[in-house]
Amino acid sequence: MTANSEGKFGDYGGQYVPEVLMPAIEELEEAYDEYLSDDDFLDDLNAKLRDYGGRPTPLYHAPELSERVGSKVYLKREDLLHGGAHKLNNALGQALLAKRMGKDRIIAETGAGQHGTATAMAAAALGIDCEIYMGAKDIERQKPNVFRMRLMGAEVNPVETGTGTLKDAINETLRDWATNVEDTHYVIGSIVGPHPFPAMVRDFQSVIGREIRQQSVEKEGRLPDSVVACAGGGSNTMGAFYDFIDDEEVDLYAVEAGGSSLEVNEERAPNSASLNIGEEGVLHGARTKILEDEDGQILESHSLSAGLDYSGVGPELAYLVDSGRVEPRTADDDEALEAFHLVSETEGIIPALESSHAVALLEKEDLGDFVVVNLSGRGDKDLDTVMEKSGVEV
Ligand SMILES: Cc1ncc(COP(=O)(O)O)c(C=O)c1O
Repeated sequence: MTANSEGKFGDYGGQYVPEVLMPAIEELEEAYDEYLSDDDFLDDLNAKLRDYGGRPTPLYHAPELSERVGSKVYLKREDLLHGGAHKLNNALGQALLAKRMGKDRIIAETGAGQHGTATAMAAAALGIDCEIYMGAKDIERQKPNVFRMRLMGAEVNPVETGTGTLKDAINETLRDWATNVEDTHYVIGSIVGPHPFPAMVRDFQSVIGREIRQQSVEKEGRLPDSVVACAGGGSNTMGAFYDFIDDEEVDLYAVEAGGSSLEVNEERAPNSASLNIGEEGVLHGARTKILEDEDGQILESHSLSAGLDYSGVGPELAYLVDSGRVEPRTADDDEALEAFHLVSETEGIIPALESSHAVALLEKEDLGDFVVVNLSGRGDKDLDTVMEKSGVEV
């Protein structure tokens, strides 16, 4: 489904934003509509994705992992995209759009630091000023990415409010955008936020699923039985799924962070499972599934992996779960950690902790004979977290 004229997916989505942001959002909507069918823009983007980003990424048959789980497992290697995660597909697209719109400053929020890194890369490559907002807790657990962003000339602003994670960083970036709408574009990092962001980010990420389709047919002569991806905001999930929405024979699984428990208490959710246990509400400019308490207050989320640690999820994904097309699942912190070690040992590939949640589903469920797992990113950024969690000192 694409968003209707009000930017809605069923009841979800929309534009719940302060008046001051409306001109910028309308300008973006217009530019996005125009450039999405502009061959010149698309050729430029595709050339940059290929020559700068390294697309297409391989679809890798993982023999040892397959043996271990008893079905033919392929990994879609978004970890091999420049920067180490799928985030560059969207950051390049939006930065290019911002440049065409005449904006000379881009800002972004980041959780795991991968989106911030991708945005800093795109800004450096296109010659645009770049400022990143990142929660203080995330800065602590993702230091290598903070340094990478600064090396590429981006300013990184720590956000101390709330729990110092992604939700708070988004609030700060929206505040910056509201005061600088004239010269600034907000490169949002997932399929969240007001329309047109969810549809636009999905479109920029849908290259993942188009490649999976083509590569599956090349390698196996058919479409996969299931496609699995991890969901924070949901951009790698929708990117991997979008091309398969009409293929009912392909099962689509979105795996969220089960954290330490699915039990929600009064103050917080020890998980980030908004698709699985969330309620309908408004967060960051869109109606979607969110973690909230009985009074409708947003609950703080938790995940071992910074990139999944978010109290909401993209409105389109919420809609596809309600309609039964996408199956929501969870993997908890320990299962993700186990999967992190499993892929490292069996394949010599260290996956991001986010992606490890998707891999974990392989050992929990029968997903058919031919399974594609979207390996959204690489795990170098997570080594400190894993060493600390495992009590390892090197
Ligand atoms: C490697 C990786 N995978 C997944 C995610 C989750 O984001 P999304 O759900 O938008 O794909 C992130 C976010 O930072 C990430 O860095």
